[in-house]
Amino acid sequence: MSRICPSVLSADFSALGDECRDVIAGGADWIHYDVMDGVFVPNISIGIPVLKSLSKKVDAFYDVHLMITDPAKYVDDFAGAGADHISFHIESQSDTAETIEAIHAKGILAGVALKPATPAEAVFPYLKDLDLVLVMTVEPGFGGQKFMADMCPKIKKIRKEADRIGRKDLLIQVDGGIDVGTVGFVAEAGADVYVAGSAVFNKKDRGEAIAAIREAAGKASVK
Ligand code: DX5
Ligand code: ZN
Repeated sequence: MSRICPSVLSADFSALGDECRDVIAGGADWIHYDVMDGVFVPNISIGIPVLKSLSKKVDAFYDVHLMITDPAKYVDDFAGAGADHISFHIESQSDTAETIEAIHAKGILAGVALKPATPAEAVFPYLKDLDLVLVMTVEPGFGGQKFMADMCPKIKKIRKEADRIGRKDLLIQVDGGIDVGTVGFVAEAGADVYVAGSAVFNKKDRGEAIAAIREAAGKASVK
């Protein structure tokens, strides 16, 4: 089953609740909530209080992508604010195994994200414990960047290793430059969870945009 996750980074922040309701009504599966601290990535976005207000008003599955230096420190706060899934970067300062455990202790899904330069093998030791691996298809930090097609072999390697260890259920998420023209490449490589920021929020009819991405992914999907 493919999941489409509009990234709020491209939403109108002055009307975030309405923006999220709009994409959910349009068929979005998860709301992708990008958190940046200005240190781990060269940009600052939104954090705990905004998620808390949003999740109180808008019923959705909140997929929180932490692009921060010490994610372990904030797991409890984000879980308490309404996160249903937390992914954090393997390149961050936090201990990977301990952070996965801390997220699971909150009763929510855990994911590990990889920057473009990080090889697939870096996440292999953790695959058995993870719900999701997030393969960045741009350098994290900004919406609207160009999709890196050379990340497809990395997705393939992770899918192959997950299958080998009996984790056919592992979710592989892609984030960055995903649109109707690029989603086929990552679906074919083995991804099944698609983040799309500008390709959804910059469109007038978000439902139409989501349906078109889902259709293009479905045609190419190997899952
Ligand atoms: C980038 C963020 C993405 C971003 C994607 O660092 O993690 O979620 O919003 O935006 P698009 O889909 O426009 O590349
Ligand atoms: Zn993201």
